[in-house]
Amino acid sequence: MNTPLRILHFSDIHVNIQIRHMHWKKWFSKRAIGAVNLLRGRAKYFDETEEKLAALLRFKEENSIDIVINTGDYTALGLKSELTLARQMLEPMMTPPQNYITVPGNHDIYVHEGNSHYRFSEQFCSVLQNDLPEYCRGGHWPLIRLVGDEAAVIAVNSARPNPLPWVSSGEIPPEQLESLGDILKDERLQGRFLFVITHYAPRLSNGQDDKKLHGLINADEFLKTCSGIENGAILFGHIHKTYRLHVPEVKSELFCAGSATMEGHEGCWVYELEGQNMEARQVGWNGKEYCFTA
Ligand SMILES: [Fe+2]
Ligand SMILES: [Fe+2]
Repeated sequence: MNTPLRILHFSDIHVNIQIRHMHWKKWFSKRAIGAVNLLRGRAKYFDETEEKLAALLRFKEENSIDIVINTGDYTALGLKSELTLARQMLEPMMTPPQNYITVPGNHDIYVHEGNSHYRFSEQFCSVLQNDLPEYCRGGHWPLIRLVGDEAAVIAVNSARPNPLPWVSSGEIPPEQLESLGDILKDERLQGRFLFVITHYAPRLSNGQDDKKLHGLINADEFLKTCSGIENGAILFGHIHKTYRLHVPEVKSELFCAGSATMEGHEGCWVYELEGQNMEARQVGWNGKEYCFTA
């Protein structure tokens, strides 16, 4: 009997370094507001991130996870030191690198410094290999990973720097959406279960649009592009709540991983794929370990 393919999907771990280690020059940007928010208490919700990631690694090993998907927001302020720390903490999950698939979140490219996208790539380049690089439209995206004969993961990047402190919206560049449409027609993807991943949520848990200043501004176009997928799932994070839902625009179910490490909100998903049949199991935190909620 074949064992199912097991995929762990987690997100929004928001690793933060202590703010006193932040170079003074970095304060003259949107980061100043973000840092003040951290000082005012947001950071304490992510105090135990290191211990929780160690527990998540144990969960991965005990549950024979084959593939790991992370939908971004590794950091709080997009600092190089935070990205480096996140990379170090997750290193054991990235072996072999082809079994780890990721996209950046808005916090990972927090402010525009000319090199914000490169900083993410610098830390995560070993897990950004693309099986069909001819579909790339800017940077690494879309990134396609073929998983055996039965599945494929298509990653599109919806994160961008937002210089204004009160804006944290995202957008999938139109050229990536166009490429996604072409990818879905590619012979090599036919008959596979398709996981389309991005950071931003195309819909909230109640099926509504996210707020204009916080959401994916071209969510409708994204869902329209995915409407041709017969057998698949759309995976994302950004909203710190673990949920799943069906929306009328697509046959694929939507899954938000929520935050794996935010105190009181910890959650993620395991997808078990057998042939074309996918079962999703929600994972929670009991104070010591990650475990299935049902
Ligand atoms: Fe987040
Ligand atoms: Fe986010």
